[in-house]
Amino acid sequence: MATNRTFTMIKPDAVENGHIGGILSMITEAGFRIVSLKLTQLTLADAQAFYAVHKERPFFGELVEFMTRGPIVAAILEKDNAVEDFRALIGATNPADAAEGTIRKKYATSVGENAVHGSDSDENAAIESNFHFAGREQF
Ligand code: PPS
Repeated sequence: MATNRTFTMIKPDAVENGHIGGILSMITEAGFRIVSLKLTQLTLADAQAFYAVHKERPFFGELVEFMTRGPIVAAILEKDNAVEDFRALIGATNPADAAEGTIRKKYATSVGENAVHGSDSDENAAIESNFHFAGREQF
């Protein structure tokens, strides 16, 4: 059964372009409660660890370089069916394929710089949430 929390990052491109407020508005208007929230920046080691599952993929170096180039917003979100519903809200990985009304359709610029991350499973949502937030920061 799906749990009710997921993890997201507003990526460096969207932070640089001034879209933190717009993206958080879309998230809360879609019915998600913010459980945890912070502006932070990943080190190279952080990004390599966070994306370790993708380390054999050809874009891995580009992905960790991008994710470390500036601040990100990390957040834990709560809603019924959170993982699946949040993936629907953010849209396809490549914004060229993202549906109207999705965050990536509105704010992403390319497949590499696609504005937001959303956990792909309940298990990864818990791992990713605990990577960024201590238990006492998860409300
Ligand atoms: S997903 O969302 O996991 O189903 O998508 P996937 O295609 O497996 O991509 C995994 C993460 O890698 C990012 N990505 C890329 N980065 C740079 N260049 C290219 N070409 C590229 N393709 C995919 C993608 O945005 C995913 O990052 P997260 O943070 O999970 O969104």
